[in-house]
Amino acid sequence: MKTIRVNLKERSYSVCIGRGILKDLAGYLRFLKLPQELFIVTNSQIKHRFGFALKSCLKKGGFSSFFYSAIDSEKAKSITNAVKLVEALADYARQKKIAVLAFGGGVVGDLSSFVASIYKRGVPLVQVPTTLLAQIDSSIGGKTAIDLSIAKNLVGTFYQPRLVFCELDFLATLDKKQIRAGLSEAVKYAIIKDEGLFRFLEENYRQLFFKDMRALAHLVYQCARIKSGIVQLDEREEKGLRTVLNFGHTIGHAIEAAGDYLKYSHGEAIALGMLAASRLSQRLGMLDSAAYERILNLIARLGLPQEISALKEEDVLRAYKLDKKFIGRTNRFVLIKGIGRPVVCENVPQETIHKAIKELFVS
Ligand SMILES: NC(=O)c1ccc[n+]([C@@H]2O[C@H](COP(=O)([O-])OP(=O)(O)OC[C@H]3O[C@@H](n4cnc5c(N)ncnc54)[C@H](O)[C@@H]3O)[C@@H](O)[C@H]2O)c1
Ligand SMILES: [Zn+2]
Repeated sequence: MKTIRVNLKERSYSVCIGRGILKDLAGYLRFLKLPQELFIVTNSQIKHRFGFALKSCLKKGGFSSFFYSAIDSEKAKSITNAVKLVEALADYARQKKIAVLAFGGGVVGDLSSFVASIYKRGVPLVQVPTTLLAQIDSSIGGKTAIDLSIAKNLVGTFYQPRLVFCELDFLATLDKKQIRAGLSEAVKYAIIKDEGLFRFLEENYRQLFFKDMRALAHLVYQCARIKSGIVQLDEREEKGLRTVLNFGHTIGHAIEAAGDYLKYSHGEAIALGMLAASRLSQRLGMLDSAAYERILNLIARLGLPQEISALKEEDVLRAYKLDKKFIGRTNRFVLIKGIGRPVVCENVPQETIHKAIKELFVS
């Protein structure tokens, strides 16, 4: 097992990564002196696959658990569902001291961490992520989130977990789409922070697709290390350092929203957003064409889209302008000077942005 420490003073915690580590979870919970009653938030699919294994490991370690299954879709992150969850939690907790354990992908993680942060002004939270995306991204960093009908992730808190426990064996049952969703974020980490990781992705994309555990272990560790490193420098996104994690996300969000979150998955939209941001960097004279080609090729090898065929140009531009309202600042872009060399730029000319968006469309 490998461990990464996220150093946030009294809110510090460990991210544990390994194969066959589930049996050690209870020991960690005991070490952290967490309550012995665990309220486990999951969905029925994950519970069916891995619920028994989790419950028995916890039981052997002296913990009792109650499973709450949320619906298996982004719709689980609605205010209504959050309220249902708080009520179920209150009903279970009564006089007991409890901890919340998020057991699933990013949806379960965002919803349960939000609820853990508001119930009685915060109860201990443990993240046991089961998707590649959740292990490398959403379980680390303490951003909780609920969606509103006008935009995703508009309601939320900062609330760090007490432990993130990444059992790599869970990844064996992910389908290609779910693997791709994680790989898209992994490409983001590589582009903003680590050329070595970029090379690893170029050389190992097939192994990753076939869920070669050694390749996945390396990837999860490297990505979790990058995310933890950035989070500990700028926990609440106040210093502009955490902003680099938004690489590809500004235009990516507009693409996701323009397709009503159906036509392009988050990973696909982010891949397109990363291409647009790279193209923008090239247009502004920061990035050479060889680096741009490498990015384009990697995205293509991962089976992620390189152009938009299922949307209209004006819909993406409209969504981009609308999204800016929620971002609340005028035009702050994460661009790159090379692979592993991000720059946060303000006041990028609107025309140049629009051109970069337009270039994503099949001519
Ligand atoms: N809080 C953050 O910092 C942050 C960062 C990135 C993304 N997110 C959020 O994460 C969410 C996306 O997360 P996701 O990609 O994990 O999607 P998800 O949680 O919807 O999971 C994808 C699918 O995989 C299934 N699944 C989970 N584990 C499985 C396993 N081991 N084997 C087989 N199937 C499994 C789930 O049931 C679901 O159907 C979005 O809501 C996004 O907004 C949050
Ligand atoms: Zn993302």
